[in-house]
Amino acid sequence: MKALVLAGGTGSRLRPITHTSAKQLLPVANKPVLFYVLDSLAEAGITDIGIVVGDTADEIRAAVESGGYADRLDLTYIAQTAPLGLAHAVRIARDFLGDDDFVMYLGDNFIVGGITEQVEEFRADRPDARILLTRVPDPTAFGVAELDQDGRLVGLEEKPRKPKSDLALVGVYLFTPAVHEAVRAIEPSDRGELEITHAIQWLIDRNLDVRSATISGYWKDTGNVDDMLEVNRTVLETVEPMVAGDVDESTTIIGRVRIAPGAVVRRSRIVGPAVIGSGVEITGSYVGPFTSVSDGCRIEDSEIEYSIVLPGSSITGVRRVEASLIGRNVEVTPAPRAPAAHRLVLGDHSKVQISS
Ligand code: G1P
Repeated sequence: MKALVLAGGTGSRLRPITHTSAKQLLPVANKPVLFYVLDSLAEAGITDIGIVVGDTADEIRAAVESGGYADRLDLTYIAQTAPLGLAHAVRIARDFLGDDDFVMYLGDNFIVGGITEQVEEFRADRPDARILLTRVPDPTAFGVAELDQDGRLVGLEEKPRKPKSDLALVGVYLFTPAVHEAVRAIEPSDRGELEITHAIQWLIDRNLDVRSATISGYWKDTGNVDDMLEVNRTVLETVEPMVAGDVDESTTIIGRVRIAPGAVVRRSRIVGPAVIGSGVEITGSYVGPFTSVSDGCRIEDSEIEYSIVLPGSSITGVRRVEASLIGRNVEVTPAPRAPAAHRLVLGDHSKVQISS
């Protein structure tokens, strides 16, 4: 069995963070979302993996290589020159996939607990396709499934205005080669994409055996900031505590805290669950629960909680930062006392909430 991992999307819902980098590389508990995808495939015994890449190809490849995956997995990069849809990705991966069964896994989806059980059930029953569903509060942002009274899948709609259920399609699909005829047969949708949802509907319409499993395990399409923070919170609750950095005696560390080698913490209070990356300097500060501070950041005389800070950023003299996603190489500082005004240098599509 092979896997097709989709890492080509542009991440418009996470702008401005994803103006400059791939959404699949955003870190959860200081590890890129895409790495969790690759790990869960490896755990399920799948090592022959095609990664579909777009504009951010170089960045994805560099990250995957620095994560050591090239040594452990058999990786093939497949270029998608334009974001023409998930079914288009299957079309262009035809040579790689051959006549093998495969898992298609969207590189910005996150499934706590992995996919091993789903892969095993698919291997045992081998229906033509198997999809995963989960209940969501707003199904209009997803592919939505309709089941009959016996729980059998009768239809799918992509981002319907009036959803027929609250069962959203999770971004993990299990396919036999039957899907190849379907992705060749369908036409682009109103948003101009070849939808995998339509390809699966094509299979259902031809009475092929398409099964669904509803998963209750936590998952999110990490397409927006609130979801990112929630995923981060869930994963931080499971990190193994470890203090490898240099922590002085006047620092207090409480709960599940992971401090990477090379981090320096002075006169601070860190309340877990939290992770602190290598090369981070924390001085005279409070880092509260559900916070991930990436490599090379500096936090001085500040307070931060329930937030994600990407590499190379600094927060100095600011209290308190909360529920925030801070990009790479950002500087957060207090304004001078007078005049009482906010001075902002913000990139396109930035969102700032100021308490005043
Ligand atoms: C895609 C699929 C959708 C699915 C979702 C899961 O949406 O088209 O059916 O529910 O992934 O993440 P997109 O992320 O392209 O909007």
